[in-house]
Amino acid sequence: MHIEASVPIGELAVRIPGALDVFERYRLDYCCHGSRSLEEACAQRGVPLATVLQELREAAERSAQEERTTNWDRVSLRELCRHIVAEHHAYLRAELPRLEPYLQKIARVHRERHPELVELCRLFQELSEEIRHHLREEEEGLFPQAVRTETALAIGEAASLQPIAQAIEEREREHERAGALLDSIRRLLDDYTVPEDACPTYRHVLESLERLERDMHRHIHLENNVLHPRLRRLDTLLASGTEELSVPLR
Ligand SMILES: [Fe+2]
Ligand SMILES: [Fe+2]
Repeated sequence: MHIEASVPIGELAVRIPGALDVFERYRLDYCCHGSRSLEEACAQRGVPLATVLQELREAAERSAQEERTTNWDRVSLRELCRHIVAEHHAYLRAELPRLEPYLQKIARVHRERHPELVELCRLFQELSEEIRHHLREEEEGLFPQAVRTETALAIGEAASLQPIAQAIEEREREHERAGALLDSIRRLLDDYTVPEDACPTYRHVLESLERLERDMHRHIHLENNVLHPRLRRLDTLLASGTEELSVPLR
């Protein structure tokens, strides 16, 4: 496998499962801006390219030894969508309402010494609303459409399917907005640094928000870098007519 500076960072994230930890460690954006080259992503963050390349090569060696890592580029779209819903959507649906009262509580108790917590509540509210709408759009729109397209192509009945490019673009714009909100929250909280006077609830909120950010990155990565490129390829096949539909769907 070629691990080079010119390869898009999202592509490296798809090909090397262990790369996600490397990118998170150096805060390199592999999900919302996965089409940037690794070199550009490193330059943007001021991270040494040679060090990242070395760590990626080590991660690739480890991934090659771990047979059980799922290659999401190879499973069916139905399975991929099911995994995203069961793993990431279910987590968000449980975690966002669970966290909300804790955020309200720490803002109430600590707002004098930490006025930024009031703004945190506002940003979190906005993020929650965005995400709730977004998950519904995916689960009732794009995902069933993806599965229908896959099935129709497999049995050679693709003529009546609608193009899905526009829905993908809308979902990607929503990913951008969620990513920007998560960045704002991280900046506001000084990279999740725990203040000296933080109570256990305060610590718990910071840890939970950082975990939520990490999960969102992996979630958006699976959609922007795996699911959507596969759907765009299917869309191209649809546009070119049904004669060539015996080509592999992955
Ligand atoms: Fe999603
Ligand atoms: Fe999404």
